[in-house]
Amino acid sequence: MTPVITLDGPGGSGKGTIARLLAERLGWHLLDSGALYRLTALAARRAGVDLDDARAVAEVARNLPVRFEPAKGGGTRILLDGEEVGAELRTEACGADASRVAALPEVREALLERQRAFRRPPGLVADGRDMGTVVFPDAPLKVYLTASLEERARRRYNQLKEQGVSANIHSLLQELADRDERDAKREVAPLRPAEDAVVLDSTELGIDEVLQRILDLARERNLA
Ligand code: C5P
Repeated sequence: MTPVITLDGPGGSGKGTIARLLAERLGWHLLDSGALYRLTALAARRAGVDLDDARAVAEVARNLPVRFEPAKGGGTRILLDGEEVGAELRTEACGADASRVAALPEVREALLERQRAFRRPPGLVADGRDMGTVVFPDAPLKVYLTASLEERARRRYNQLKEQGVSANIHSLLQELADRDERDAKREVAPLRPAEDAVVLDSTELGIDEVLQRILDLARERNLA
């Protein structure tokens, strides 16, 4: 069975960056499951679908005309209907919409097989909220990455500034707090560590240290 390392946790915990670096270091595939929820929300908005209409949004999720392509300078280009949408997907507005549609069981069901199809040799690093609890419950290494709300807001703020996007740290903090609450309180696949997950608090750790700890865990389990 192809090995999977799951990386779950709240927004701004550094999961996305760590998952990408980990996949590069191991030479494994990468699943950014949040992007699928963001794409679903964006495609539904563009089609004029009501985000509370579970069946209609699930239909959008099942038929997403999306392509993931390797980008020239590294990373991935995400194309929706042939148009590059990476920057639009990363906005807080799209994140908030994603968290709304992600609370709909029909939408989660519609995306389940699409996510599992990313599991291909030699291995997969899967980033999300329910990778260890629902999508890949048999994963041999599950990590739950977290950090204080203030630190996560600070990281998001710096990330946006680097991209030349103006942001307000107070509203970012509020948006992250709202999204955490919605993700943790929903009935299906709520945000929580799997029982067999290793919980890593990265508030006081740099990217390299977190990456090293996960690589050590992977080696201990003979995955790398
Ligand atoms: O990780 P990212 O911030 O891109 O995820 C956007 C939203 O998608 C999250 O707030 C969450 O509501 C939802 N999501 C989810 N399950 C996943 C990944 C993301 O519910 N596996």
